[in-house]
Amino acid sequence: MRPDVRYWDKMLPNQPEHANLYRGETFEKDLFESICASSGIGDPKNEFTLEESDMFSVEEMASNPIAMHYLQFVMRLAGVKRVLEIGAFIGFSAMSFAKALPEGGEVVSIEKFDKFAAIARRNFEANGLSDRITMHVGDAFEIIDGLPKDQLFDMVFIDGNKERYNDYFIKTEPLLSPNGIMLVDDCFYHGDVLNTAPGDAKGEGTKAFMDNAAASDGWYRIALPISNGLFMMIRK
Ligand SMILES: C[S@@+](CC[C@H](N)C(=O)[O-])C[C@H]1O[C@@H](n2cnc3c(N)ncnc32)[C@H](O)[C@@H]1O
Repeated sequence: MRPDVRYWDKMLPNQPEHANLYRGETFEKDLFESICASSGIGDPKNEFTLEESDMFSVEEMASNPIAMHYLQFVMRLAGVKRVLEIGAFIGFSAMSFAKALPEGGEVVSIEKFDKFAAIARRNFEANGLSDRITMHVGDAFEIIDGLPKDQLFDMVFIDGNKERYNDYFIKTEPLLSPNGIMLVDDCFYHGDVLNTAPGDAKGEGTKAFMDNAAASDGWYRIALPISNGLFMMIRK
């Protein structure tokens, strides 16, 4: 548990040029709060009835609220009805997606660990979102094999173990609808992908994905500097 980690520690890369007129002393926090206030982004703990884990805080482990708000915007723009998520933790991102679904839409979320999945399920229930979210517990790599091949997803959100990011991309691609949106969260992995040789196995996995993405000419793609990096792809 790292109670010192706050949302504004995980928002944007340093941008000294964009802060050179700022006269305060808490640039990241003030920028985060300005984005949230102008965009109508609430604290997840106020937006949802949220049971938390005693292992990791929401700030530390869950996706950034700005990224989630942005993806809700994209979902509404693109008319996303079915979402596949790899890595649920306590369900914050799954619930954010569920709230942006049209009538009849569904989020299918996969979480490896029982203890997180159980909290997520209680969160779905407490927020009246259980009917829109299907939770599978187990290793995503195995569970994906059991998903129906004819029920495609309009959006795939890869946020599980970074060591296998590229495998997840290859594995989920056939399940993505022709105009679907592929998303990979934390694509900068705390800067480790910028090292020629990443120092961490998760950084290595994320860099392998980024290196393959660089050669993926069949896709339009964009690495967005939101939080720890959000990679978006649509087929050409
Ligand atoms: C960064 S957290 C997910 C955060 C969540 N998407 C959110 O934004 O609220 C990553 C999650 O992936 C889960 N995970 C790790 N390896 C996995 C695997 N092989 N299959 C499914 N889930 C996995 C972890 O247990 C953890 O809960």
